[in-house]
Amino acid sequence: MFINFWYPVVLGKDLLDQPKLVRILSLDFAVFRDSQGRAQVLSNVCPHRGGSLAGGKVKGDNLQCPYHGWQFDGTGQCHKIPSLGSAARIPARTRVDAYPVVEKYGIVFAFLGDLPEAERPPLLEVPEFGHEGWRPSWMNFQIPYHYERSVENGLDPAHNEFVHPTHGFSGEDIEYKVNDLRWVGDPEWSVGFFTRFRSPASKDGDFAKMKQATDSREAGTGAIGPNHVWTYIRFAPDKKMHQYMWEAPIDEHSTNIFFMNMRSTFLEPEMDKKVNEMNWMIAEQDIKVLSDLRPAQTPSTNTKEFMVPADEPILRYRKKLKEWEQRGWRIDMAELNRTRQRVAYAIPGPERRNHKGWVLDPVPLVSPSRQGQAARVRVADQ
Ligand code: FES
Ligand SMILES: [Fe+2]
Repeated sequence: MFINFWYPVVLGKDLLDQPKLVRILSLDFAVFRDSQGRAQVLSNVCPHRGGSLAGGKVKGDNLQCPYHGWQFDGTGQCHKIPSLGSAARIPARTRVDAYPVVEKYGIVFAFLGDLPEAERPPLLEVPEFGHEGWRPSWMNFQIPYHYERSVENGLDPAHNEFVHPTHGFSGEDIEYKVNDLRWVGDPEWSVGFFTRFRSPASKDGDFAKMKQATDSREAGTGAIGPNHVWTYIRFAPDKKMHQYMWEAPIDEHSTNIFFMNMRSTFLEPEMDKKVNEMNWMIAEQDIKVLSDLRPAQTPSTNTKEFMVPADEPILRYRKKLKEWEQRGWRIDMAELNRTRQRVAYAIPGPERRNHKGWVLDPVPLVSPSRQGQAARVRVADQ
């Protein structure tokens, strides 16, 4: 799991006047709307004596800790310490980490890290959102496994034939193979490709008939950062399905998925339910297989799985993860789990670069290896 990327936090419609407690990257966040309705995301641990801020109340622009009533605004600054009296000067060290937020596509996203704005990786965008001829629908669900397995599944062109009977022939097609992949996307932050595949245009259980009714479709998929996945399926020039998944690892064992489907066909609002039901059926087919993968998390070396050419997108994704680890962005989960009973950690927010003396320790990160650092210097020198 990595700091310094954008994570989906909550559906905008679910964030009303009560603060919410949200767990992402194995840490807790307090999410609330200020007096102007802007979503705010703070590290949940009160720097006084560890109160859970999300258990408190919104007071105007501030969130009030339920334990002794200290109040923090959306920038993390403390404005009130009741026990000191109303005229008290508020010590600077009482600040909590606050995170950049954008609310778009019906979702509140937070940038969980300390990078200044110009250096932040991109959010997966939805270019057709709000355009005529397209209709969105949303699903938000949790899966009981590590998000990297889920993202890798999104990037896996070979599983459709076997996992999804509507996308392939369940192994009955002796001519089946994965076609060439056409690579797309910004190589710094993403891995993506388009390919053609055949799928049953209709199904009546008769394989010979099904195969006659086969059509050839183009589909593309890709990941941006460690946790955003897009999939485009083109049934016909005017029939497109664009799917977007922003994944928030809850911890090492579970993931909160925000899924948006954009469609250029079946535009009637009453079709939303049907489209979601169909997408949920497909998602359940993936969840069934992915819940039983071992190791539950992607192995630390590729030699512990036997990869074939169709796994190339997954190898490229793992290479990106290694690069981000070399930037020092991977959370050291072993250290976090070893010490968390006695230490409350926070993901460092951008303000850590402007102020010294924070009460909470920053979350432990995996140190970049010497070899990796040397490789980065070589690349930077070129
Ligand atoms: S623990 Fe939050 S105000 Fe005391
Ligand atoms: Fe799938």
